[in-house]
Amino acid sequence: MAALDKSERKVILLTGAVLSIFFFSMLYARGKYTDVPECLPYDKVYEEPKVTKLDEKTYQVYAVAKMWQFEPAEIYIPTGSEVDFFLTSKDVVHGFNINDKGVNMMAVYGNINKTTVKFDKPGVYKITCHEYCGTGHQNMQAQVIVNDPLAKN
Ligand code: CUA
Repeated sequence: MAALDKSERKVILLTGAVLSIFFFSMLYARGKYTDVPECLPYDKVYEEPKVTKLDEKTYQVYAVAKMWQFEPAEIYIPTGSEVDFFLTSKDVVHGFNINDKGVNMMAVYGNINKTTVKFDKPGVYKITCHEYCGTGHQNMQAQVIVNDPLAKN
């Protein structure tokens, strides 16, 4: 095999460097920013919308999407809570986007998608359906209310 030209070697090294930066930043982001959504085995219990308090700062939400609403529509939690969202749909495919949280999941009939989100700052976080699902699509909204002084958690 012929020796590599100097500029060829440069290009190969540069490509390697760029690729490693890319992979390391993916690994870094994965641990640091958001929990990577996972798909769980289907179970009928997830079709019942509910908010469960596991302890002072840990909650579980069974979120159910259907034409054209999310249930529960309002989720009250204290600041600093970590919330596991278990998401499913009762009919067509819906989207599940939590504003400011980088959450972008699909609600699919017969499937359970799960992600964990930490709410460090008080405020109202809108949940919207970002997958066109019919005439009422634009009405599909819910919200996570973090540290509402009126809430009776
Ligand atoms: Cu549900 Cu769009």
